[in-house]
Amino acid sequence: MTSVVQENITSVSVNVERVNIAKSFGLASKSYDNSARLQRIAGNHILSLLPKEKALTVLDVGSGTGFFTEVLASKYKQVIGFDISHEMLHFAKERCNNHIIWLEGDAHNIPLKDNSIDVIYSNLVIQWFNPLDVAITELLRVLKPGGSLVFTTLLDGTLHELKSSWQKVDDDQHVINFKTLTELTTVVNTVLSNNQGQLIEQQCQDIILEYNNVIHLARELKGLGANHLAQKQNRGLSGKAKWFNMAEHYKNYLAPNGTYPATYCLFSGVVVKSVD
Ligand SMILES: C[S@@+](CC[C@H](N)C(=O)[O-])C[C@H]1O[C@@H](n2cnc3c(N)ncnc32)[C@H](O)[C@@H]1O
Repeated sequence: MTSVVQENITSVSVNVERVNIAKSFGLASKSYDNSARLQRIAGNHILSLLPKEKALTVLDVGSGTGFFTEVLASKYKQVIGFDISHEMLHFAKERCNNHIIWLEGDAHNIPLKDNSIDVIYSNLVIQWFNPLDVAITELLRVLKPGGSLVFTTLLDGTLHELKSSWQKVDDDQHVINFKTLTELTTVVNTVLSNNQGQLIEQQCQDIILEYNNVIHLARELKGLGANHLAQKQNRGLSGKAKWFNMAEHYKNYLAPNGTYPATYCLFSGVVVKSVD
């Protein structure tokens, strides 16, 4: 493979939560692209924040089905698609051009050499990282001095309609715990302190998508594989009566045109690693 891949990694620690996240995304590899409305909006939005120079090595962290990896490959000399899900990588390899290097691994322990990557692109992946500071430290480790990390993630308030409708029915977890803006920027700025780098750009925007009904929303989340909930108590399907009850509460948010809105609080950021 490429010279940037680290060859001295002998053991990869297995984190059960991350294995389950990978499984969830793996099961969704074939349905993902049909459900990825938000992901396309977010991913396209940060393309404009990328450097214009072409002779760069770019790492797509959490490359999924490879949609944006392929876009990056049309712009840059060397592109690596990196994902924790074997099935996602398999799907991406089948559909994308041959010039992309595909690498399986966990962003908390990236099998790449220090200072080997010019640009990291990561679209809607960081919300799955835990602990976030460990993963951000890894991303910075592999970036070259002066290199940039261009990313999106989701903040607290995302899917608030679904979350509060469920809260009227039970106290189980139905929506992942997204970080608040302060929590996110505190973690990022703490890692960046000691002259490691700077968050040079940040932007928040609410994106509201419309759904025909609550089942449409639930199917889209499942189709994306974004349905793993680490703290969920009841692992079975929520009962029919509970579902009906929750859907009744969701009607409080109905838009004038009769559609069901779901809010996504999108954060976009650019971090530049310091030149020593
Ligand atoms: C919502 S999808 C985004 C895919 C792609 N970036 C896009 O814009 O369509 C999240 C992806 O991140 C991957 N992922 C989640 N946790 C990861 C981790 N710790 N390390 C590497 N990839 C991870 C998942 O397997 C999944 O493919």
